Amino acid sequence: MVEIAVMGYGTVGSGVVEVLHKHAESIAGRAKAQIHVKYILDLREFPGSPYEQKFTKSFEKILSDTDVRIVVEVMGGLHPAFDYVKACLEHGKSVVTSNKELVAAKGAELLKIAQKNNLNFLFEASVGGGIPIIRPISQCLAANEVVEIAGILNGTTNFILTKMIREKTTFEETLALAQKLGYAERNPAADVEGLDACRKICILASLAYGKHVYPEQVHTEGISGIRPADVEYAAAWGGVLKLIGQVKRMKNGKIQIIVCPMFLSRESQLANVDDVFNGILVRGDSTGDVVFYGKGAGKFPTASAVVADVIDCVKHFKARKYLYWDDGSADYVENYLDNHVSLYVRAVTDDETLAFQNIENQIGAVTRLTRKGADPGEIAFVTKQATERELRQGLKTLLGLGVQVQNTVRIGEL
Ligand code: HSE
Repeated sequence: MVEIAVMGYGTVGSGVVEVLHKHAESIAGRAKAQIHVKYILDLREFPGSPYEQKFTKSFEKILSDTDVRIVVEVMGGLHPAFDYVKACLEHGKSVVTSNKELVAAKGAELLKIAQKNNLNFLFEASVGGGIPIIRPISQCLAANEVVEIAGILNGTTNFILTKMIREKTTFEETLALAQKLGYAERNPAADVEGLDACRKICILASLAYGKHVYPEQVHTEGISGIRPADVEYAAAWGGVLKLIGQVKRMKNGKIQIIVCPMFLSRESQLANVDDVFNGILVRGDSTGDVVFYGKGAGKFPTASAVVADVIDCVKHFKARKYLYWDDGSADYVENYLDNHVSLYVRAVTDDETLAFQNIENQIGAVTRLTRKGADPGEIAFVTKQATERELRQGLKTLLGLGVQVQNTVRIGEL
């Protein structure tokens, strides 16, 4: 019998306890041991719960109980999660977490402590919910050099963009619907401003390239500035608009990493990843493109990944799973302004003919886009490839030439 504790009885925590209870027999068969939840840590009361006897408000009780060999951290947030997880690893307990904020900020540090103490620190559920992605990158694709990873990593924003595309609604009204349906949090900033996707691409980048990438190193843009006009121009261009987290290794050893909305061609394997689904494309030098698709959030999909990690911990008490990356460094991430991109641009002008003359003088030939029902003076175009710095400087000079840029979106080559 293996005793475990679950810290946090929210959506994911209650799912973990339920899955462990419901599938106890088959899980015991796979783990070759019964897994028993001894404690559930939560500050709230759950009177009448079938697990009422297991609840505790005392982290110390869990920490000091030497019978508890695995702790599941599903509280979310950085504090006290970091302090608790660190203490567990320092006290000989393996840890499984779904907490992407924790792994993205402190992964290297916690992996080091786990390694030193010959314990496991596993986090399959932190990216893509129920989609297997951490294990495939660290094990199944281990023979590859990862050329690139790009993904739709946030279900809430994908739901919002899909609705905006299909139903021609505004960002604000679609966000309100997402909140009503329980997809978006009441404070949706982490989702809509791209921070959640940023944390996830940081974890994947750290894992794929062996060195920690911190969220504050990543240029991150969300979707709150996207207007229905941009969605329509994406369709006119021949694609869809998606929020993408992307990382590539450069020849000089640095990485290019970004989170931002992108126009994707309809032929892209990520273009049809819709609604709350996630899709992650891993481009390996030997495998070519491998795409992972499924539910990136939700009680049972996420619990499924957490419980699988618990089983893996039980099976690897003696032989630690090799999961590791080094600390990051300030010069590891290329400035996004030095990346080569082409941009979609939406602008307004009083004189369209003169505007396009000035645009082509400043930034070279562009491809014009049109849409039905465009506002008076509205123009849109896609630039050729250049460094983002050159393109942005060119666009800035246009302001003095009667062209007011309203929005830009990068063109994704995926
Ligand atoms: N808020 C996240 C999403 C939950 O919408 O994808 C899963 O990390």
